[in-house]
Amino acid sequence: MQASNPFSLADKRILVTGATSGIGHAIALACARMGAEVIGVGRNPERLASAGQALNQISDKPHRMLQADLTNAEERQQLVQSLSSQLNGVVHSAGVSRLCPVRIISQKHLDELQAINVTAPTMLTQALLQKNLIAPGGSIVFISSIAAHAGVAGVAAYSGTKAALLAISRCLSMEVSKHRIRSNCLSPALVETPMFEGTSQVVGSLDKELRSYPLGVGKPEDVANASVFLLSDASRWITGTTIVMGGSGF
Ligand SMILES: NC(=O)c1ccc[n+]([C@@H]2O[C@H](COP(=O)([O-])OP(=O)(O)OC[C@H]3O[C@@H](n4cnc5c(N)ncnc54)[C@H](OP(=O)(O)O)[C@@H]3O)[C@@H](O)[C@H]2O)c1
Repeated sequence: MQASNPFSLADKRILVTGATSGIGHAIALACARMGAEVIGVGRNPERLASAGQALNQISDKPHRMLQADLTNAEERQQLVQSLSSQLNGVVHSAGVSRLCPVRIISQKHLDELQAINVTAPTMLTQALLQKNLIAPGGSIVFISSIAAHAGVAGVAAYSGTKAALLAISRCLSMEVSKHRIRSNCLSPALVETPMFEGTSQVVGSLDKELRSYPLGVGKPEDVANASVFLLSDASRWITGTTIVMGGSGF
């Protein structure tokens, strides 16, 4: 008799935001490879279509890619209404990074970061919980950042949004544990994605930062593998915590 694999996502339905690019895309594909049915969310129509094709090549589960601007309350509601059955996992990966020193930061800059990095995942989680769309035993994963743990010049607003996720997830974990739903964060250091490329273009070379990385720069698949763990029953006793990835001693 074969032993069951506690890391398997077979028979699980997982919603992944930011599934059209970078880390979220890698998470969506990894979930499908581990046997899950994936509902991916993004905005860009071409990338939604190609992500859908990639998922369908992995398995014949009824994967879906849904278009929603998650900063728009109405589009969030429509997304939630389009879900016909309960989810076993949710990964909040959609997010943006914008750099600006506090001395010249604008209210608009703060509001834009807050809207997608904090308000969207929090209110989407609320809507899912209110409609009882997260099954008992389900797992919620927020993609925070090493920026929530370290001081780096020019990153204050982004760091603040990512630190908020750590605190929100910790409190949420206490609220949902009665349903055996878990909530955790991943805090990756720099990962090779389009966001990373954008940051490199703004600040010039990131070689200096990367020299302090004991294991070098991360790949989206590194974060995807950790997400699979947090979504699977292998982590059934882990909630309210954060895994810091690729950092030096956080
Ligand atoms: N890359 C890194 O070094 C790094 C390190 C630590 C943490 N993170 C975090 O990891 C997450 C993913 O980052 P990434 O590097 O994969 O970035 P990315 O490649 O730029 O992807 C960002 C994703 O977020 C989606 N998104 C952005 N705004 C949205 C909105 N208003 N509504 C719906 N979807 C929206 C994008 O969808 P469309 O493209 O379809 O618009 C895209 O799928 C972010 O939360 C980021 O803060 C990244």
